[in-house]
Amino acid sequence: MKAIVHEGTGLEGLSYRDFEEPTVAPHMVKVKVKAAGMNRRDLIVTKLHQESSPLIMGCEGAGIIEEVGEGVSDFAVGDEVLISASMGWKEKSDAPPETFKILCNPDHGTYAEYIVVPADMLEKKPAFLSWEEAGVLPLAGLTAYRALFTRGQVKPGDTIMLPGIGSGVLTFILKFAKAVGARVIVTSRHEDKLKRALDLGADVAIPTESDWTEELKNESVDILFESIGRATMTKSLGIIRKGGTVVTFGATTEDQVNIDIRQFFYGQYNLLGTTLGSHEEFKEMVAFVEKHQIHPMLDRSFSLSEYKEAFEYLRDSKNFGKLAFKVD
Ligand SMILES: NC(=O)c1ccc[n+]([C@@H]2O[C@H](COP(=O)([O-])OP(=O)(O)OC[C@H]3O[C@@H](n4cnc5c(N)ncnc54)[C@H](OP(=O)(O)O)[C@@H]3O)[C@@H](O)[C@H]2O)c1
Repeated sequence: MKAIVHEGTGLEGLSYRDFEEPTVAPHMVKVKVKAAGMNRRDLIVTKLHQESSPLIMGCEGAGIIEEVGEGVSDFAVGDEVLISASMGWKEKSDAPPETFKILCNPDHGTYAEYIVVPADMLEKKPAFLSWEEAGVLPLAGLTAYRALFTRGQVKPGDTIMLPGIGSGVLTFILKFAKAVGARVIVTSRHEDKLKRALDLGADVAIPTESDWTEELKNESVDILFESIGRATMTKSLGIIRKGGTVVTFGATTEDQVNIDIRQFFYGQYNLLGTTLGSHEEFKEMVAFVEKHQIHPMLDRSFSLSEYKEAFEYLRDSKNFGKLAFKVD
């Protein structure tokens, strides 16, 4: 079969090549991949994976079940399914168990014609989504759902803020938050992304590099979702209302930030971490998307052979929302 494979280091380690087709095992299913979503994590994996054994890239996807292993009763050949990124985390909990891992590295990922995964990572694909929309839903949709609802506990009427709205995860948070009646403020470094966010329902859109305190002097931010890291964290902590919350799940720029701890405790602020989510939350997220008929914000699709262009597009943050590989 054809696959996007990583061996070596960095983006230079990527290739589109033939790879041995996987075989099914007990409690596993073999899925013919129809589409797979890209995530910033793909870039991280090309740095982390330095072993000599080749790795198929891709942390999420959607496809059709080709074969089921012994002991699989919930799914059958021909079922159209979503492939979650979350492995070994069944029920909603404060933090994942030790068994938790994310699809792709060390396990092979979804940028291939076939993948074999444990049956308990799958859910039925919502019929109203195209293959590409379904392929980009699992990882970012689950991250957004846990960040917004389980951790952020957003309520109708809350004002939330999303710095760097070009992000795949944040376009889901924008859509989910609007579906439950929250007010949404976004930032971006790009004028066109600010316009696109307003078209998607954002209430206020300002440049990331602007003076947020001045631009938002009439706003009161209840919850801010921070994924950029060092470049914006200080501004993020400075813009929430007294007693407000920052939910953090990413550090696209650098990991280390300085916090004025005295200002932080005087302001009675909350800082919450979150990562991906459990399978229980994955199920809830899919039901939520079906209930509100939410289509992922799909920016662009590539074929597997266009992997170089796709990875550079992601690296340079040209995307507004999600990028997909269409697997023929
Ligand atoms: N913990 C988890 O489970 C989890 C899950 C998914 C993602 N993440 C993390 O969350 C982050 C977002 O992921 P994603 O896949 O949605 O990423 P993405 O689509 O690549 O978006 C990242 C966005 O960050 C903004 N940005 C990048 N560099 C910036 C800079 N120097 N200054 C200001 N803004 C900058 C850009 O927004 P504009 O172009 O609009 O300016 C860009 O669109 C990543 O750090 C990722 O690793 C974590």
